[in-house]
Amino acid sequence: MNELALTPYLDKVICGDALQVLSELPDECIDLGITSPPYNKKHKHGGWLVPKVVYKGATDVLPEEAYQAWQIQVLNELYRITKEGGSFFYNHKVRYENGKMFHPIEWLLKTKWTVWQEIIWHRRIAGNIRGWRFWQVEERIYWLVKGKPTELKPQHAKLTSVWEIRPERAHKDHPAVFPLELPTRIIYAILEDRPGTVIDPFCGTGTTLVAAKLLDKNYVGIEISPEYVAYAEQRLAQAHTEKATVHKEIALHSVELTFRERKARGYWAEKR
Ligand SMILES: C[S@@+](CC[C@H](N)C(=O)[O-])C[C@H]1O[C@@H](n2cnc3c(N)ncnc32)[C@H](O)[C@@H]1O
Repeated sequence: MNELALTPYLDKVICGDALQVLSELPDECIDLGITSPPYNKKHKHGGWLVPKVVYKGATDVLPEEAYQAWQIQVLNELYRITKEGGSFFYNHKVRYENGKMFHPIEWLLKTKWTVWQEIIWHRRIAGNIRGWRFWQVEERIYWLVKGKPTELKPQHAKLTSVWEIRPERAHKDHPAVFPLELPTRIIYAILEDRPGTVIDPFCGTGTTLVAAKLLDKNYVGIEISPEYVAYAEQRLAQAHTEKATVHKEIALHSVELTFRERKARGYWAEKR
């Protein structure tokens, strides 16, 4: 029933406002979500190493309180449409403004989701280098769950809670593109070979959707900018050209011995 109501949105990039489009989707129809929303960077945080983050077709300037309230609303809609046992991976960062710190956990704890894990995305490089603080080269990825998720297999869990993945350099038409490895890691670890539907409500150039397609999952993308929608559609049509990156990531998901076998052999502590 829910699956049927989802059909018009399946394997599509919908051009529209995330909250509006999400409100049209049926309850409990999605297995997994991944997104990086606009960060409310207010256009003034340019970098010495990378250009300013300015989207075509959307502003990123809200009073912080309104921004957080909006994110809570979006996350709660995502909770509604996610199946029991499903997960959502939410990429954000700790921001500083006028001496005040804004931490994503502030609003995540106000949503219906359970925060299952905080993952550090070590990018190794970032745009801003000023001496006011130590160079912030990390972002955060929050694994949010609805109910209890399936336990990760050892080959995925051993990838640790610190993900060292360099930022994407291609797709210069967009200022904040995911490296393809990132959604690939999440989809492959969470859904493995099972079928499922993956959503990205702020899908930009469609990186999450490309990963989903190459891993044989269904997807739903939402993006407000018609230009980025067109770009994502073009990327999806040529997704096979990005297969090598997906295979490289999948190759990292391997273990010679499971945690249980290591313990049985007394290898619990790493031998150096
Ligand atoms: C951080 S980017 C996501 C980039 C994406 N992960 C990728 O790999 O290309 C955030 C995206 O949200 C879009 N956006 C901004 N406001 C939106 C809204 N209200 N509804 C849907 N999309 C929106 C922006 O146009 C931008 O492309």
